[in-house]
Amino acid sequence: MSVRHAIYPGSFDPLTNGHIDILHRGLLIFDRVVVAIAVNLRKTPLFADEERIEMLRETFAGDDRVEIDTFTGLLVDYARRRAIPTVLRGLRAVSDFEYEFQMASMNRRLTGEVDYLFMMTSEDQYYVSSTLIREVAANGGSVEGLVPKHVEARLYARFGRPVVGGG
Ligand code: PNS
Repeated sequence: MSVRHAIYPGSFDPLTNGHIDILHRGLLIFDRVVVAIAVNLRKTPLFADEERIEMLRETFAGDDRVEIDTFTGLLVDYARRRAIPTVLRGLRAVSDFEYEFQMASMNRRLTGEVDYLFMMTSEDQYYVSSTLIREVAANGGSVEGLVPKHVEARLYARFGRPVVGGG
């Protein structure tokens, strides 16, 4: 029987429980998922490439269904190089849809060889985004329960422990 692969791409700056939710649910459909971290981004990430890789590795260490990899350049070129034609992405809200629809449509224009599978984020994670996590942590709020413990520790090491919102 052939092995079903998917690529789960993103910036993961930082990894959130929303990402983990999508990945776990993706693994109910795919045998292996390659988490492809976009590195050398034009925008400067909060966490350096190496740190973002470490956060993913720490989370999925020991799960041989999950491969952590990095890519630069176009996602469709990476997918072609890896010979994996399916991209997995999470959809949280209508606002995500526009962005995802644009990217998927552009990628389809670039190549017809890659298709997307979108999964809806679980209802307890639908408002969690890396952008909000960075903003809350940077302003002294608690991100407990929204990111893995080791990611929380990295955020607090960067910004200090929370002064509001519990934690
Ligand atoms: O987690 P993000 O920031 O929403 O992920 C976006 C990402 C990295 C998947 C997207 O920006 C991407 O695929 N970047 C690689 C460059 C590329 O292919 N750009 C054209 C997309 S239409």
